Amino acid sequence: MKKQTSKKIGQQRYAYDEVDSTNERAKQLAKEKAPEGTLVIAECQTKGKGRNGRIWQSDKGVGLWMSIILRPDLPIQKVQQVTLVAGLAMCETIRELTHLDVMIKWPNDLVIQGKKVCGILCELKMSKQKVDYIIVGIGVNVNTKSFDDGLPYATSLYLESGKTSDREAIINCFCNRFEHYYEHFKTTQTMAMLKSSYERYCININREVKIINNQQEYTAYAQGITDEGALIVDKKDGTRQNLTSGDLSVRGVYGYCD
Ligand code: BTN
Repeated sequence: MKKQTSKKIGQQRYAYDEVDSTNERAKQLAKEKAPEGTLVIAECQTKGKGRNGRIWQSDKGVGLWMSIILRPDLPIQKVQQVTLVAGLAMCETIRELTHLDVMIKWPNDLVIQGKKVCGILCELKMSKQKVDYIIVGIGVNVNTKSFDDGLPYATSLYLESGKTSDREAIINCFCNRFEHYYEHFKTTQTMAMLKSSYERYCININREVKIINNQQEYTAYAQGITDEGALIVDKKDGTRQNLTSGDLSVRGVYGYCD
């Protein structure tokens, strides 16, 4: 099994049987001055949080429910890119360990055959216009055998491969890879070097996407991402637009919809 060789990410680990949400526990630890890279992991979450106030199904012993505390010296407008970096690191980790055809749905969901296998929820605390901490919360459906009704577009590594995956191996491999990418990102403050890998795995590229932004809905063609991680789309009227994730939703024209 792969060992963790990262120096900061995952060095300090807090492992629990049950928490409300690893993001909430990580926030508490961050307030108590836990250092960058601290990782919180739980076998089960009673109030696992998804994006947009949704609940994240977090059954006992079958998933990877974890949160990482980061303290980068970054301008606020660059923080969002950290989630793309984490998504890419997790995508490559799962591909390496399972050989499944995992893809990234921009900005940072991971999907297999049009179904979601991993979601990332980033929470930010600022103080005096500077980043105090970021909590990167990652949920991977690893050995889940079934999902609640109402989650038709959820899947797990087990359901896709028929094999049980070792969660510890995924954590270790992710920590190593993420640290490498994150340190690089902090130094350069751009995704330029990661862009081609990200685009290789981004399911939206060279496809039609539906964009929903403040009640407006339109389709466009996704061309790639910018050095800042924005999705470059060509609209039907011939104009080009760079979309930042903020509060818009990009839907594929394939199975899983946000
Ligand atoms: C999404 O909606 O796609 C984001 C899901 C994020 C789930 C993870 S599980 C670990 C961490 N703790 C939480 O409460 N949420 C995140």
